[in-house]
Amino acid sequence: MKISKLLIGLFAGAMSMAAYAQAPIVIKFSHVVSVDTPKGKAAEYFAKKADELTKGKVKVEVYANSTLYKDKEEMEALQLGAVQMLAPSLAKFGPLGAKEFEVFDLPYIFSDYDALRKITNGPVGAQLLGKLEAKGIRGLAYWDNGFKSFSANTPIKTPADLKGKKMRIQSSKVLEAQMRGIGALPQMMAFSEVYQALQTGVVDGTENPISNLYTQKMHEVQKHLTLTEHGYLGYAVIVNKKFWDGLPSDIRGQLDDAMAQSTRYANQIAKIENDTSLEKVRASGKTEVYTPTKEERAAFVKALAPVHKQMESRIGKDVIQSVYKATGFDPSK
Ligand code: LMR
Repeated sequence: MKISKLLIGLFAGAMSMAAYAQAPIVIKFSHVVSVDTPKGKAAEYFAKKADELTKGKVKVEVYANSTLYKDKEEMEALQLGAVQMLAPSLAKFGPLGAKEFEVFDLPYIFSDYDALRKITNGPVGAQLLGKLEAKGIRGLAYWDNGFKSFSANTPIKTPADLKGKKMRIQSSKVLEAQMRGIGALPQMMAFSEVYQALQTGVVDGTENPISNLYTQKMHEVQKHLTLTEHGYLGYAVIVNKKFWDGLPSDIRGQLDDAMAQSTRYANQIAKIENDTSLEKVRASGKTEVYTPTKEERAAFVKALAPVHKQMESRIGKDVIQSVYKATGFDPSK
């Protein structure tokens, strides 16, 4: 009797070990934007590729639109291991102590996606990701969104039009300096709260790539959008380092492959998604979309240029210079 009980126990134990061995590894991937954005689509694509390439051994659960965590919480959750993967915007790494990432926020520092690619695909980008290791985070890739434009309830043609306006920003000191540089009043706020803040007048305006503005319906509560394209917004895809290093190496290799394919996809669709969103904003008729003249754009460039020098001590002069050098940006022009 005793022996048969023992055998049953051993059998049950072996069965549950087998079940355990077959249970997929779960990666929780949390983000704050809509599924219908460059990041939202790329996250879904990664989940699909990870499933395919690992033959179901890894299951990526994507939580979009701040359903799991908001901006600040998600960073903490990643470090604690409550979530394994995120793709925060590059403007959100300052509070972690990785202030160098704010170089991406400097106004007009990238003339286009090609200039940016010289950083994200080159040694400067790799060095920046390397700085996250000390925080228990591994940086896997850079994913694009696009160039930000200002919106408000009053027309914006010159920098002076934003004077005294309360403008929502992400958690970046460079963005704070940028808004102060044009006399606006920066209000730092989680992405999930922006729509309501605009609707209720807690803030007067904001800055977004159009894909974010449109998918959060911000154009319904902003009467004016001016295509200033004064700054870049993109992402670093990051994982909890301990979790990542602890994966079986064959699975990690397959996930690296899935990430490389997803990065190509993300960076292929980003501009198209933003262009499509702009068309939809125009078609909605809810926001007046204004394209600044060459002279008006030059006035924004001039008003925001001092932010580069002001932020040297925060970002590091060497980091800023290495970006100028790689992209060919000339601050005297
Ligand atoms: C924002 O807070 O405006 C953006 O970082 C949101 C996002 O993830 O694109």
